[in-house]
Amino acid sequence: MPEHGMLTLPAPAKLNRMLHITGRRDDGYHLLQTLFQFLDHGDTLTLASRDDGELRLDAELAGVTSDDNLILRAARRLQHATGTRSGAHISLRKRLPMGGGLGGGSSDAATTLLGLNRLWRLDLSLDTLATLGLELGADVPVFVRGHAAWGEGIGEHLTPVELDTPWFVVVHPGVGVSTPHIFKAPELTRDTPPITMARALQGGAASWRNDCEPTVRKLYPEVARALDWLGERAPSMLTGTGACVFARLEREEDATALLTEIPEHWQAFKAPGRNRSPLHDALDR
Ligand code: C5P
Repeated sequence: MPEHGMLTLPAPAKLNRMLHITGRRDDGYHLLQTLFQFLDHGDTLTLASRDDGELRLDAELAGVTSDDNLILRAARRLQHATGTRSGAHISLRKRLPMGGGLGGGSSDAATTLLGLNRLWRLDLSLDTLATLGLELGADVPVFVRGHAAWGEGIGEHLTPVELDTPWFVVVHPGVGVSTPHIFKAPELTRDTPPITMARALQGGAASWRNDCEPTVRKLYPEVARALDWLGERAPSMLTGTGACVFARLEREEDATALLTEIPEHWQAFKAPGRNRSPLHDALDR
């Protein structure tokens, strides 16, 4: 195999710790205000450089290696942007659910961009990689930048913030939510008055809310059940457009205890919040 140089890197999950929809652009994309934070939990990518320009992807999970996969699109985008003759063999260990609201696909794309930038010695700046990332998806830039952030626009105007870092229990209620399905729903509210970043960081019930929740509850009753179940036990919210819901716990013991109670037909994990992405920690080591 014409491979040389190898990196194993995390592709962490994100949570939206609040999400307001404040308007809609002419192209249909929604204007948001959100707080992004990372979890110390996610997918793992192993990237090996190839000198024949080929791109290969394999994953334990069927269905994620198709040609329009975000990992391959990110790698191709980087090849086109730089004219490099390098290729890569990428292996994906998938832990994050698809259609989960945890940003799994976007995070895989960002890890590919940063990992190949390193392996192929391209030396592109984070600004350039974030711009390339935005072409792949609205959530890719925050994973490229690697810091918890106040996000505006469609999620690409990012201001780094320091959030508290409690433990989270994340529940996947077994259904995949289609993001466009939620964003197209007529009943989705799109007129939440914009707030300041300072106000969002103060928290409180008024701002720590996800505007997608009423629509997701209605269209996906199993998500509503998970939100109700979790909400009886700890402060809980939807992340992104779902399907995952998360509860916030102060101590790891509380997260462990809650995890043991989760009904068997739902998948769940616990993880601490991180203001710096585990990807950037790994790249610094
Ligand atoms: O950018 P991403 O591929 O994650 O978005 C998926 C779809 O969700 C878009 O095609 C769009 O319909 C919708 N979307 C939106 N407003 C956003 C982000 C996504 O309407 N800010």
